[in-house]
Amino acid sequence: MNNQVIIVKDYEEMSCLAYEYFKEQLKNNPKTVWGLATGSTPVGLYKKLCDSENLDFSNCTSFNLDEYEGLKQDDIQSYCYFMNENLFSKINIHTDKCFLPLGCAEDLDKECLKYDNMINLVGGIDFQVLGIGTNGHIGFNEPSESFSEGTHVVDLTDQTIKDNGAKYFNNNMELVPKRALSMGTLQIAKAKKIIILASGKNKALAVASAINGPVTPNVPASILQTCKDVIWIIDEAAASMLKI
Ligand code: F6R
Repeated sequence: MNNQVIIVKDYEEMSCLAYEYFKEQLKNNPKTVWGLATGSTPVGLYKKLCDSENLDFSNCTSFNLDEYEGLKQDDIQSYCYFMNENLFSKINIHTDKCFLPLGCAEDLDKECLKYDNMINLVGGIDFQVLGIGTNGHIGFNEPSESFSEGTHVVDLTDQTIKDNGAKYFNNNMELVPKRALSMGTLQIAKAKKIIILASGKNKALAVASAINGPVTPNVPASILQTCKDVIWIIDEAAASMLKI
């Protein structure tokens, strides 16, 4: 078991430490299958990876957690676009080995199955990077009555629509897609190693509930208590409600 909670000063320190774990993983396994997140949390980490000159991602594969329904890959609001802008186009990973669920697929259920098969074919995720939603979600797995399994179509909660609308859609909630494709909670928990990052006071309740509270699908991130190798890297503001 290697479950740790590391509290750092701020977003910058969180990103630096996450970067160190990333580098270490790449050194130990140049063929790492990465599980990647979007959102504001990993941007600092991705920037450091892009600025680093001697990292070789040419033998790596990556799978992102989620994608909005209905958006084409070149839509500037899509997670595919986000990943290309923030990481893939700036490191030497082969983009044909970088996967996200296809939000504009004609048959979404088929797309979800296909995505899971691809992840299984490469032997699963070696190293998963996660952020956490203010409601405790990981990927787009919203609080619910049971833990989701594989990749599936999700109805986003009002809270998530509001959070994402404020951050990325100029507060125009009409424009925020209301559904998404997301890897499942139990699938995420199968990654061989997980780092989960959180920064800011608005994450404090979700972080405390996930770490100190019971394991419950009402707080999807609480599933991480059952995993073998998880490192929480959280800044002081996000840790402010934590009981250690
Ligand atoms: C995005 C994802 C989400 C985000 C979470 C936090 O791929 O999986 O779970 O990590 O919504 O978002 P930010 O980082 O924008 O606060």
